[in-house]
Amino acid sequence: MRILVLLGAPGAGKGTQAHILARHLGLPRIATGDLFRAAVRAGTPLGLEVKEFMERGEFVPDETTVRMLLERLDAPDASHGAILDGFPRNRAQASALDESLAKRGSRVELALYIAVPEDELLARLSGRWVCQAHGHTYHEVAYPPRVPGVCDVDGSPLVQRDDDRPEVVRARLENQLGGLREVVDYYRPLGILRVIDGRRPIAAVTADLLDAIEPKPYWRA
Ligand code: AP5
Repeated sequence: MRILVLLGAPGAGKGTQAHILARHLGLPRIATGDLFRAAVRAGTPLGLEVKEFMERGEFVPDETTVRMLLERLDAPDASHGAILDGFPRNRAQASALDESLAKRGSRVELALYIAVPEDELLARLSGRWVCQAHGHTYHEVAYPPRVPGVCDVDGSPLVQRDDDRPEVVRARLENQLGGLREVVDYYRPLGILRVIDGRRPIAAVTADLLDAIEPKPYWRA
């Protein structure tokens, strides 16, 4: 089972890169934020439970998040592994993931931290548009769709996320950066943390991620 973890602050480009890596590596992308948003849209008990946390830009409680993530990892399409986008977000989630993977005889292969300075995150999130069907991501200035308001990949309408309002974005950054530091500190001593410069263009970030995941032998570099 191949488990790759994508780490980064809100707006660092985890979702953008996870979609691309999923296609390259033939692994499903599992994004806790998308799973929560789908539950909110569908009005399920999980959705009702998590809605307020998301609207305030806070973490959903660990117990709920870990249970949902582990259930999703049990789905047949994840039997060979997955790219985790937005999980783990704190030390408790990281160690719950390790415990559960150990029971399956597996472990996290790499934790890929996409690093972007805080001032750029705000600009990225306020210009973001996301496709309603599959969450493909655009930016109105940096990465606009070919036809305004329409997803290049699946033709579905583009919408702005409720939690991309400036006041919620600030709360998300405030509430979540501490957890991100915990997770980075958790993986660093294990020797599986790779830090990627997320300020570069999307294609360059993808290339750096793929190099970290599957380094070329030195004679082919
Ligand atoms: P979630 O949906 O995971 O949101 P997030 O972590 O805040 O991350 P984002 O989706 O906002 O950003 P991203 O890094 O994916 O950036 P993107 O690729 O879109 O979580 C939402 C909420 O759910 C959380 O706030 C929390 O409440 C809850 N939650 C989720 N997981 C949880 C957990 N494990 N525990 C507890 N609660 C949890 O890119 C952003 C923009 O930048 C786009 O417009 C894009 O086009 C642009 N862009 C991307 N890359 C580049 C680049 N290289 N250069 C220029 N622009 C770029």
